[in-house]
Amino acid sequence: MAGPSRRVLVVGSGGREHALAWKLAGDGAEVLIAPGNAGTARIGENVAVKPGDIPGLVELARSRAVDVTVIGPEAPLVAGVVDTFQAAGLRIFGPTARAAQIEGSKAFCKQILHRGDVPTAMYREFRTAKRAQEYLEAREDMPVVVKADGLAAGKGVFVCPDRAAALAAVAILAGDPQFADAAKGILVEERLDGREVSVMAITDGRTIVTLPPLQDHKAAHDGDLGPNTGGMGAYCPTPFVDAALMAEIESRILVPTIHAMRRSHVPFQGVLFAGLMLTAQGPKVLEFNARFGDPECEALMMLLDSSLLEIIDATVDRKLEGIDPPVWKPGAAVTVVMASEGYPGEVEKGRPIRGLGDAAALDGVEVFHAATRAGPDGQGVVNNGGRTLAVTAVGESLARAKLRAYSAVRRIRWDGAWCRKDIANKGIDRDHELAAAEPGAPR
Ligand code: AMP
Ligand code: GLY
Repeated sequence: MAGPSRRVLVVGSGGREHALAWKLAGDGAEVLIAPGNAGTARIGENVAVKPGDIPGLVELARSRAVDVTVIGPEAPLVAGVVDTFQAAGLRIFGPTARAAQIEGSKAFCKQILHRGDVPTAMYREFRTAKRAQEYLEAREDMPVVVKADGLAAGKGVFVCPDRAAALAAVAILAGDPQFADAAKGILVEERLDGREVSVMAITDGRTIVTLPPLQDHKAAHDGDLGPNTGGMGAYCPTPFVDAALMAEIESRILVPTIHAMRRSHVPFQGVLFAGLMLTAQGPKVLEFNARFGDPECEALMMLLDSSLLEIIDATVDRKLEGIDPPVWKPGAAVTVVMASEGYPGEVEKGRPIRGLGDAAALDGVEVFHAATRAGPDGQGVVNNGGRTLAVTAVGESLARAKLRAYSAVRRIRWDGAWCRKDIANKGIDRDHELAAAEPGAPR
């Protein structure tokens, strides 16, 4: 469509934001990224405003006549960036502070789930560590999950095999100053067993557009071993969610949640991310996030054929009902996260990264930057954090996409770079099982 170009502001600095900026630029938008990274600098204009600086973001959107702002991470949402933009008459994609409590408070999330009669783990909520401990002592010794109520940068969840581990987790939440705010409430919940999948929906509060299902890889090392991370890779679509299961997830989980929020006078606009466990009793909610998943977003954006800008505009204007369902490219996408030495602990920053151009030159490959910046004197690219790159490839099958993603990974080098080698393997094995069960069926 010809016409004046639209100006979009993407807030954040990770692989998710690079992928959003890349897609929006492909849709014809002029993109500003705050603060962005070395990858987003090649797509649009990086502006040095931090995601936590809400007045700075408002000023930027105003002074640069931004048409719509898209928020990547959860912290500014929970802090009320959407409320502030709306009060200033600025268009923004994302939930208000109250609606973002679906991610910001696990107790609030459970209340909404209860209200919508949405399947989730049974739980108890405690205001003090002492009460949580008394409860654990009194009940049967069994696996549980101990969670801080508030945001804790992904560190506030402890999956515990037994009572002793659960008591230790409560003691950590109560004793470690980093949890001082998040652990004002403590949840103890039933441990669910099964396979984890991620399903996201874009919603204007009434209509929902469900996005293809993915699997993340949270553990640091191959075979799901090692410490938990922000996600070491993702693939899309996952064959563990077929059309029938997707319909069930929509009707039993996503739609009732959106309705429960509206009935509670907390309508949700933006991306609702459901972390689900596929249990023997069906899909159950582990958590909701109020934003795109990372690295899920990187794989999704490479498969989205329709205009993301159009979907975002329709969401912000509460007109999602009126647009055609998004079209997805056939085939699959695989994202492999390349991390820096030491991640998920401390990493040394500033190491030069080589081979980015060679990798990006491969067909069907995009190298999204997750934590990079320009090197000294603006020369080259250096690492600037733990999850450093999100190397993403598409292919006609998961196996092909995986092959391409790792071909790209092999072309990229820096001191201490590492990645998981088994991203998408579960999905590929499942594809093979399904093919064996149904010879001749298209895969
Ligand atoms: P959350 O931040 O709530 O998503 O939890 C982080 C991770 O902990 C999830 O991705 C799951 O792997 C695990 N987890 C959370 N809740 C449960 C549960 N009730 N049963 C088993 N695993 C869980
Ligand atoms: N990949 C999971 C998340 O973004 O929280």
